[in-house]
Amino acid sequence: MKSDGLKIGNIALSSRALFAPMAGYSDLGARYLARLYGAGLTTSEMVSAKGLCYHNRETEALLAKTEIETPFAAQLFSASPEYTAKAVALLPAGIDIVDINMGCPAPKIVKNGEGSALLKDPVLAGEIVAAAAGASNRPVTVKMRLGYEIGDFAADKVARAVEQAGAAAVTVHGRYRDQMYAGVVDRAAIHRVRDAVKIPLIANGDVRSVRDYDIMRKETEADGVMIGRGALGNYRIFADISGKKVDRTERENILLQIDFLKKQYPERIVVNLMKHHVTAYASGKAGVAKEIRDRVHRATNYTELFAVVDDYFSR
Ligand SMILES: Cc1cc2nc3c(=O)[nH]c(=O)nc-3n(C[C@H](O)[C@H](O)[C@H](O)COP(=O)(O)O)c2cc1C
Repeated sequence: MKSDGLKIGNIALSSRALFAPMAGYSDLGARYLARLYGAGLTTSEMVSAKGLCYHNRETEALLAKTEIETPFAAQLFSASPEYTAKAVALLPAGIDIVDINMGCPAPKIVKNGEGSALLKDPVLAGEIVAAAAGASNRPVTVKMRLGYEIGDFAADKVARAVEQAGAAAVTVHGRYRDQMYAGVVDRAAIHRVRDAVKIPLIANGDVRSVRDYDIMRKETEADGVMIGRGALGNYRIFADISGKKVDRTERENILLQIDFLKKQYPERIVVNLMKHHVTAYASGKAGVAKEIRDRVHRATNYTELFAVVDDYFSR
């Protein structure tokens, strides 16, 4: 491990390019591939702190990881320091980092004061981080957006508050909550967080190539870059960034993802989850992307799913 690499608390990462948590997408297979291709860190899909406290089985299942995911972060969403502390104390072994979600824009999350709603309350944001940091000796990180309402920049204040509360790193997605996923990422605004804190800053949003990665690092002066949608069906981006050599076909990757999902879910759910993934792989196939998308979206069982894989992704 290079000594000049990115460290989160006492945990050294093998690459400055990290795989973003994405509910419904960053499942075991996707994360396995991200890691195999050289992502420095993978993170669970977001998990309800309250759900963990009530031992909800589906919530607990989201914390499963593959054998190559070390280090691995669990992402919690919460509006309560008490539930956060209890949930962190209940986390299984094998989780190296606790990440707190302060970016989710979904109305059903925000209406409970969770996710990006915390951008409106830096004091509570700090209390949640302090509760997480006090409940175990794992580093605590925060993933946030620029602010809640468009133009109402809050990431510097929130980053400072969570740093004081003990956060070991912050990730900033360069959009406001009200933008959801529209518009372009504001790299200059991410850069404004650079001088607000001393802990590592990880920049996020719209990175789809090595060139985008280089631009993001240069313009934000971030210590790391988190990549989400740009890595789906394109896990190679992590190898291209880190210089790792990985020789696998798209077909092998799709089949591996199916195998991982099969261990966790019944056929109907596996087929539905794979629709997203196959669509992502298809986006790189000029001329047939729409055809693949249409066909995979009609698939209702393994036979139909594998037929799409056989027809478009060669051996
Ligand atoms: C379908 C979907 C699900 C997401 N789920 C999460 C999540 O569970 N936790 C989180 O912090 N961010 C989540 N995000 C946000 C991403 O982690 C990331 O911040 C955002 O997509 C911008 O980065 P990108 O342009 O590289 O995808 C999600 C994004 C998408 C598109």
